[in-house]
Amino acid sequence: MNPDDYFFKLNSTCTVEAELLEYCANVEDWAAGLTWESFLQKSVPDSIIKKDKFLTTMKDMGWRISILKLIPMSWYKFHIDTHGNRPTAINCLLGSPRSLSVFKGKEVRRLQEQILDLNYERNAFYLFNGLEQHAVFNFESDRFLLTITPPDSYMAKQYDPSKGSYKDAAGNFTLKSFGEFDTMLAEQKTIYFKFREEFITLQL
Ligand SMILES: [Fe+2]
Repeated sequence: MNPDDYFFKLNSTCTVEAELLEYCANVEDWAAGLTWESFLQKSVPDSIIKKDKFLTTMKDMGWRISILKLIPMSWYKFHIDTHGNRPTAINCLLGSPRSLSVFKGKEVRRLQEQILDLNYERNAFYLFNGLEQHAVFNFESDRFLLTITPPDSYMAKQYDPSKGSYKDAAGNFTLKSFGEFDTMLAEQKTIYFKFREEFITLQL
């Protein structure tokens, strides 16, 4: 497994970790403003965004900035980020909770599969390939992840974020067949690699 195909560390660093953690400690309604129903999520206020150069740049480019909360002694099961249809995201782990972020590769034995972990460096931003199977294990403390989502224009054309579902050829909202879904995913998977090149060029 080539790490660069799963995550990619950007040049920019987060300068507002303390402010974000303080904000997290005071949020009471984590479910409010929910975009992805399976996650506890909260938008980051503009007052914090404007103190950080990279976050301000991303917001100006139309990206959405949120925090995901994972409670102690729990995990996000292996999944791909189709809910909310995030073809890629930029992530920064806040603080240093004892947790593991793992991508899954090929099966090598009947009960053995390749894995790769993203060992988040403090204050570092990573472009994250959410369309590869991944899981997160969290242990003793709350885990807060700063996550930045691309504008809706990067989502699959068939996807309507307001409905949380896909349109068929006749314009009806429907769950897609597995075949169509795979084709859509293959298209969406190229977005991570496009962004990787773009961020190298922009030196962000
Ligand atoms: Fe995910």
